[in-house]
Amino acid sequence: MGTLEGKIALVTGGTGGIGTAICQRLAADGARIVTTYMNQEKAEKWQADQDFESTIIRCDVGSYEDCERLREQIESELGHVDLIVNNAGITRDGSFKKMNADKWSQVIATNLDSVFNVTHQFANGMAERGHGRIVNISSINGQKGQFGQTNYSAAKAGLHGFSMALAQEVARKGVTVNTVSPGYIATEMVMAVPEEIRDKIIAQIPVGRLGKPEEIAALIAFLCSDEGGFITGANLAANGGQHMH
Ligand code: CAA
Repeated sequence: MGTLEGKIALVTGGTGGIGTAICQRLAADGARIVTTYMNQEKAEKWQADQDFESTIIRCDVGSYEDCERLREQIESELGHVDLIVNNAGITRDGSFKKMNADKWSQVIATNLDSVFNVTHQFANGMAERGHGRIVNISSINGQKGQFGQTNYSAAKAGLHGFSMALAQEVARKGVTVNTVSPGYIATEMVMAVPEEIRDKIIAQIPVGRLGKPEEIAALIAFLCSDEGGFITGANLAANGGQHMH
C-alpha cells in the first residue's frame, strides 16, 4: 500500500512536463489526483494517456474566482484536499528592455498570484483537520536570477517568501509548507529555449545533463509523505549542482 493511500492531492498544471511526473508519482504512492487545465484538447488527451484515475478541472489559477469554483467542485465531488502542489507556471522571457506590462503581469498572475489563490482555498481546512502538505514549485532562477527573466525570477523568488511565512502560521497544525527549486529539467518549457543558449546552460551544470521530471517528483513525494513532517519552510534545490548555496 502506498504511503499516500486515501489522500487527495491537488497538482496545478498537471499536464505539463514536471506536473505529469508529479501526478504519476503521487498516484503510484496511492493519492487520488486532481489537476487543473487551460487547454481542453490537451487535457482530454493527457487524461486518456494516464494509467490512473484522475479528476481534471478547468481553472485559471491566476483567477481567485476560478480557484473558488475549483474548491467547490473538489469538495462536492471528492472531499477534502490533503496535499497541494502549486506547480502551474509559464515563461514569457525577454530582456528587460524588451519586457512589457503584459509579459510581466501574465507571469506574476500565473506563477505567484496563483499560489495565494489556490492555497487560500484549502489551507484553513488542512489546519482544522490537523494535517496537510503544501509544496510550491519555484526555480533555480528564483534563487540566482536569469538574464531574460525579470518577471519569472521575481515570481519564483516570491514563492519562497510565501512558503516561509505560511509555514510559520500552520506549523503547529500539522501542515508543512515547502519550496522545491528545480534547475533545468528536460521539459517543453526548457526545450523552448533556443538550442544554442540551452547548450551553454547545460555546460554550466556540474552533473552534465538536464534533470528528469521524475527526479523532481520523487522529492515532492517525500515532502508529501508522513516522513517529511519535520521539513517545513525549506527551499530544496534539485539543479545538478548548477547553483549551490
Ligand atoms: N548574459 C549576458 N548577456 C547576454 C546573455 C546572458 N546570459 N544572454 C544574452 N545576452 C546578450 C547578447 O549577447 C546580446 O548582446 P548584444 O546586444 O551586445 O549583441 C544581448 O544580450 C541580446 O539582448 P536582447 O534583448 O536582444 O535579447 P534576445 O532577444 O536576443 O534574447 C532572451 C533574450 C530571450 C532572454 C534569450 O537570451 C533567452 O532565451 N535566454 C534564456 C532564458 C532562460 O534561461 N529561460 C529559462 C526558460 S526555462 C525555465 O524558466 C524553467 C526553469 O525554471 C529553469
